[in-house]
Amino acid sequence: MERRKMIYLRNLLLLLLIDLPVLVSHAAADDFFNNVEITWGGSRGEIMDRGGLLQLSLDKISGSGFQSKQEYLFGRIDMQIKVVPDNSAGTVTAYYLSSQGDSHDEIDFEFLGNLSGEPYTLHTNIYSQGKGNREQQFQLWFDPRLEFHTYTIIWNPTNIIWYVDNVPIRVFRNVQEQLGVPYPEKQPQRVYSSLWNGDSWATRGGLVKIDWSQAPFTASYRNFQTINACVFSNGKSLCRSTTTGSWRTTTLDVAGLGKLQNVRRNNMIYDYCSDTKRFPHGLPLECSLEL
Ligand SMILES: *[C@@H]1O[C@H](CO)[C@@H](O)[C@H](O)[C@H]1NC(C)=O
Repeated sequence: MERRKMIYLRNLLLLLLIDLPVLVSHAAADDFFNNVEITWGGSRGEIMDRGGLLQLSLDKISGSGFQSKQEYLFGRIDMQIKVVPDNSAGTVTAYYLSSQGDSHDEIDFEFLGNLSGEPYTLHTNIYSQGKGNREQQFQLWFDPRLEFHTYTIIWNPTNIIWYVDNVPIRVFRNVQEQLGVPYPEKQPQRVYSSLWNGDSWATRGGLVKIDWSQAPFTASYRNFQTINACVFSNGKSLCRSTTTGSWRTTTLDVAGLGKLQNVRRNNMIYDYCSDTKRFPHGLPLECSLEL
């Protein structure tokens, strides 16, 4: 009896600790004025519609970029993006999380433009403790220039999952203990985005250059949602309790794995884990994991 009571109390305490609403001042979702700042490119980066819409542009002189005001350590972060329309060859729209300094962590989405009618490439990568070289590339099942679509990163202590319109396209698991593969779990990250000239490499390996007669090039953003992310401040990660806080324990279940397999089969055009030429002395350790 005593023991059961103790277990009950312990569980109650755990629940309280996990779900205790931490009162952090969260800016209204979807308000770019509160949540981000334009960091370069001058007036090429612009917030409009009373904070509901952000546009970055690129011309011959400069690109532009913004970053989140806050840093996060774990969370679910959503953004709706409409990439540069029409002939966007040579442009790169990068949207990513990154920590500061050497040995940095980074979780990337990068949209590589293309000629009108030719497919965009969605390039993804992850750096943990300074080590990258883990690219996967996709051609999406829609044309990302035509409409806004939702690009999500779920980052929890177990895994990182990249989603497009809620479909998982990539997972990176925490196998630091088992395999010694570094995992981003200590350094807070900010959200960044930039639109820049990548025509030395982006489109068909640099063969197709930017057509400046089409400038300025513009990418659009809306619905930035960080409400389910843990804000890092004063050396601590503060997580807000929400009923939709399930991202903390999200992993891919059977249905999720099925969707991921489907995307890998139909949309993946490059996977570092299959690139034995690039890694002649053996593939990175995490490549041995079953999906
Ligand atoms: C652009 O289109 C070409 C031709 O369809 C394709 O080979 C290439 O992968 C596309 N994307 C990029 C970024 O070059």
